[in-house]
Amino acid sequence: MSETRGKVTGEKTKVIGFSGKGGVGKTTLAALLIRIMTEMNSPVILALDSDPNTCLPEILGSEDYITLSEMIEEYKGGRLPPRKFQQEFNTLLLKNEQNNYDLLPMGKSEGQGCYCSINNLLRSAFQEFILKGNYAYDYVIVDCEAGIEHISRKTSAFLNDLVIVTDGSKMSLNTIKNIYETSQEVKIEIDNIYVIANRIESEKILKEIDNLSEKLGMKFLGNIQEDENIKELNFEGKSVFELSENSSAYQKMKEITKTLISN
Ligand SMILES: Nc1ncnc2c1ncn2[C@@H]1O[C@H](COP(=O)(O)OP(=O)(O)O)[C@@H](O)[C@H]1O
Ligand SMILES: [Mg+2]
Repeated sequence: MSETRGKVTGEKTKVIGFSGKGGVGKTTLAALLIRIMTEMNSPVILALDSDPNTCLPEILGSEDYITLSEMIEEYKGGRLPPRKFQQEFNTLLLKNEQNNYDLLPMGKSEGQGCYCSINNLLRSAFQEFILKGNYAYDYVIVDCEAGIEHISRKTSAFLNDLVIVTDGSKMSLNTIKNIYETSQEVKIEIDNIYVIANRIESEKILKEIDNLSEKLGMKFLGNIQEDENIKELNFEGKSVFELSENSSAYQKMKEITKTLISN
């Protein structure tokens, strides 16, 4: 969040969300995209974890962070005045600052929180800060909560692009259809909807996913193979920054990143 940091691309902030059924690989792929972006021409990146079950910071290797819901805990039952919100938000980003990107985990909004809901606060944060002013991010990468609620509640209204991750299971393919239908119903405007397959070996299933994507006006970006290197990282509790550049997941995600940033 350093004040001297400016946007690199000179273009509008691009907000890319990762969505899909639980367990399909959203967090892993979002983290991998963030890592690959930090290795590019130093774009200004915000890693936003909007899953109440906060996992993104850990896979990015950050242990010491505060969440938006922790930030407003002291305002229990009361309203957070806008100026105070800006101050607190600045402090949170400074506390969470990583080497090459900013980190904003939403956390859980359960219990007696602030009068303003976490999602409303996120919306204000986007409107007031994230998309303008000193922040001026080139990319905001959002690890969305599982399922389609963020689409139906329109908390994804600020997304430019949506990446739906699928593991090829019936339920996860249904999620693709549900996301499509819900986004039509609530008239959420997303520039590009992409589909990434994760850990699928069957050419037949990949072909089906390709066809389904095309039918729904989405772009299929290919499959990330099951990767032993990722499993080892998990086992050892290491971050995605420690994944070998030679791993198949890294290589494929790098190729996919080119498409994601060029559209
Ligand atoms: N391509 C892959 N190869 C091996 N393991 C993977 C791969 N993608 C995801 N995983 C593992 O699968 C589990 C679920 O992935 P995660 O990214 O947490 O899913 P989600 O965020 O959709 O719930 C994690 O343990 C993750 O490390
Ligand atoms: Mg996740």
